[in-house]
Amino acid sequence: MQRPIVAGNWKMNGNLGSIATLVDAIEAGTGGLDRVRVVLFPPFVYLPQVSHRLKGTAISLGAQTLSEHTAGAFTGEVSASMLLDFDCSYVLVGHSERRNLSRESDLLVARKFVAARDAGLTPVLCVGESLQEREQGATEAVVARQLRVVLDLAGVQRFEGAVVAYEPVWAIGTGMTATPEQAQEVHAFIRRTLAEDNAGLATSLPILYGGSVRAANAAELLAMPDIDGGLVGGASLDASEFLGIAAAAQRHSEGT
Ligand code: PGA
Repeated sequence: MQRPIVAGNWKMNGNLGSIATLVDAIEAGTGGLDRVRVVLFPPFVYLPQVSHRLKGTAISLGAQTLSEHTAGAFTGEVSASMLLDFDCSYVLVGHSERRNLSRESDLLVARKFVAARDAGLTPVLCVGESLQEREQGATEAVVARQLRVVLDLAGVQRFEGAVVAYEPVWAIGTGMTATPEQAQEVHAFIRRTLAEDNAGLATSLPILYGGSVRAANAAELLAMPDIDGGLVGGASLDASEFLGIAAAAQRHSEGT
């Protein structure tokens, strides 16, 4: 079994003081968790601070988005190479908040995925349906479309070393977690879709679940065969909740 990934997406939360406290608590609490890959996604401006604090630890650093361009006149944007300067190894791509609030299209998400991969970053490609789409029975069609645009632009080989996160939009920040069975169904579908292009790669691709993951529901989600970790929003701002999720991942990985 590959090491489960427990990723904390802090979104636009925190300040210098609260982030220092949070990182210290997470660092202290994950010391013994050798079978979990912990990744933190702070807001851009705190990357230097968190990067400095994480030096010499096993915790990885990621950014919440990146530019599809390498450099130039793109005011407000941040490139992959800038993220590498601060030891980021991961980057979220296509989070639903960026798809919806910043109007990121499937094609733009695909370009960002390529920019990340080509720079040597691990993109965490987020996909997922809205409540309306689920109620219309369109979940698989939506997820297939989101994946297909990336597969067509990037090619399946670029998924080697990438991560996919299934995040049903209706479960994000709502407390309405998908049931383990609902999540498993879509995770298996994602794997089948990628397997159409490359079966071997699809088997080893880590697929995270995101959407109201908490310490109390992490174990049952991780018990599903195609769930390889969690992308955690709200609960990642609370060190004890986040550490509870990481501990559940460690127990799952140990088979205890
Ligand atoms: P949530 O967010 O855990 O607060 O639902 C998940 C995410 O947006 O990645």
